[in-house]
Amino acid sequence: MSRSRLAGLLVLLAVVLSACSGSGPQTALNPEGPIGRTIDDLWELVFIMATVVFVIVQAALVYTIIRFRARKGDDSEPVQMHGNTKLEIMWTIIPVVILASIGYPIVKGIFDVRAIAEGPDVLQVQVTGHQWWWEFEYIDLADETGRTLVTANELFIPEDTKVNLTMTSADVIHSFWVPILAGKRDVVPNRVSNMTLIADNPTAPDAPHPGQCAEYCGLAHADMRFKVHVRTQADFDTWVDGQLTPAAIPATGTAGSGYETFNITCVACHNATVADSDGAVDLGPVRTIEVDGVTFTSSLAPNLTHFGQRTTFGAGTFENTSEHLAEWLSDPSSIKPMRPEFNDIAGGRILGMPNFNLSNDEINNLIALLEGWE
Ligand code: CUA
Repeated sequence: MSRSRLAGLLVLLAVVLSACSGSGPQTALNPEGPIGRTIDDLWELVFIMATVVFVIVQAALVYTIIRFRARKGDDSEPVQMHGNTKLEIMWTIIPVVILASIGYPIVKGIFDVRAIAEGPDVLQVQVTGHQWWWEFEYIDLADETGRTLVTANELFIPEDTKVNLTMTSADVIHSFWVPILAGKRDVVPNRVSNMTLIADNPTAPDAPHPGQCAEYCGLAHADMRFKVHVRTQADFDTWVDGQLTPAAIPATGTAGSGYETFNITCVACHNATVADSDGAVDLGPVRTIEVDGVTFTSSLAPNLTHFGQRTTFGAGTFENTSEHLAEWLSDPSSIKPMRPEFNDIAGGRILGMPNFNLSNDEINNLIALLEGWE
């Protein structure tokens, strides 16, 4: 092997092996919940058994090649041993035993992981996948007028609680995946799919579990991310109360001007629930779709009622800072690939936020409004 080839091979090896470092946040190898653990345990079992089989087979192969090689001056035929019943029974039974010992836990694991969580203690969340963001509705959590808790891209769940996700898609096939908590589940238009999430421990406020759409769904597929925040039951209840409280209408100042812009521009697609003198009022459209007898919230764009509280925006892609927001509001498609020119609001098909050519003042006012809506 030439020196340059050897160098190339070493570089390739370094690149490939660096994938094994396990330091990435979206890893399924350090599960934080029983379902993720079931999958990880199966992976370990199969990996260990496959490694043992590999080592034994390779060792036998290398030994045989060296020990029984043709020696100089010896032209005789090697010993012929086809039709050896004992050997044939042996190499049939051993793989059967190995496959059965892997197969049983795998099939059991598939059923365990796919079981739909039921019962009064299960938190029900409906998920609608959109090009390119996620909508979450807590169908059992509502204010006194019956308005359910709807949020986007940041899912809050209590620790040690079974969460049943009932999912569908508003457009194309997506796939819901929180590597650290569970496997992937396809989110398919005109179909309902389910998956269960259970998380062991609360996450730090700035370190939620990352999630990712895992089915190619067009331009911004890679930026169709989300976060899962795990809270203690008490903190989760506080969060729910906050979410069900309508946002305040700012009367004056930059936020007040931002509120005017919001009502002219943003409400065509985005909803926000505000506290009016008559009670809670939805500023934007509230849309639903019906799939297999289940009614899903299916908004044109993320609900912004408590936007100021979110750690990210743009479907879990950008840290929620005023700098990022200013970039986004001045031209959304410049930082996230979208095709708003194909939007059809009446038809309910949205492919991203258009550039509204907002002035710097309008942008700063909107940021003041949105950051104030905590
Ligand atoms: Cu949605 Cu990929």
